[in-house]
Amino acid sequence: MQELKDRIKNDGQVIGTSILKVDSFLNHQIDPEFIMRMGREFAQRFSAEGVTKVLTVEASGIAVAMAAALALKVPVVFAKKKPALTQQGALYSAEVYSFTRQESVHITVEKQYLSSQDVVLIIDDFLAHGEALCGLACIVKQAGARLAGAGIVIEKRFQGGAEKLREDGIRIESLAAIEYMEPGIIKFAE
Ligand code: G4P
Repeated sequence: MQELKDRIKNDGQVIGTSILKVDSFLNHQIDPEFIMRMGREFAQRFSAEGVTKVLTVEASGIAVAMAAALALKVPVVFAKKKPALTQQGALYSAEVYSFTRQESVHITVEKQYLSSQDVVLIIDDFLAHGEALCGLACIVKQAGARLAGAGIVIEKRFQGGAEKLREDGIRIESLAAIEYMEPGIIKFAE
């Protein structure tokens, strides 16, 4: 998506060689109209799949997931990272290790919100090592639902997560894929 690549070039800040800061439109401040255009792009790419639910994990994935779900006219479910007092039903759960934060979190979804009747589109803001996507795919599997694929705003291809998951047969659509970056330089994959 050319608009996203331009926005990353103009507003993104590369920290070291592996972290891209895009707080001005995605991870801190949110640009709602831009997020809606991204949501519509995902909806269009997965329009033939018969998606019934969009699934993401809190927090930054929620805005884009909602935009995609709105365009697809389906509900969005977000996995929780901390147990909540309101979660009283049976849960699907998966362990997700974050390389960025160097800690594991246990993500959960109440069973009543995903079933074997569902066709699920996973949406997330970043795909780095693929841990979050792998955990979400595991939850879809536990539900017996069909995974239509994953829509990712920014794929950091050089971290290998997408390649591994594509080899496992998961369809991954990224709006921008970065091959290499360092401060002042961002090289997108074609
Ligand atoms: P992985 O899920 O692909 O394995 O990635 P990783 O463990 O490295 O990512 C952990 C968290 O860091 C995720 O957010 C992910 O979205 C975010 N992240 C990864 N790479 C970048 C990056 O280059 N820039 C930014 N801004 N974020 C990145 P999270 O912990 O779930 O946090 P949040 O969704 O609550 O913000």
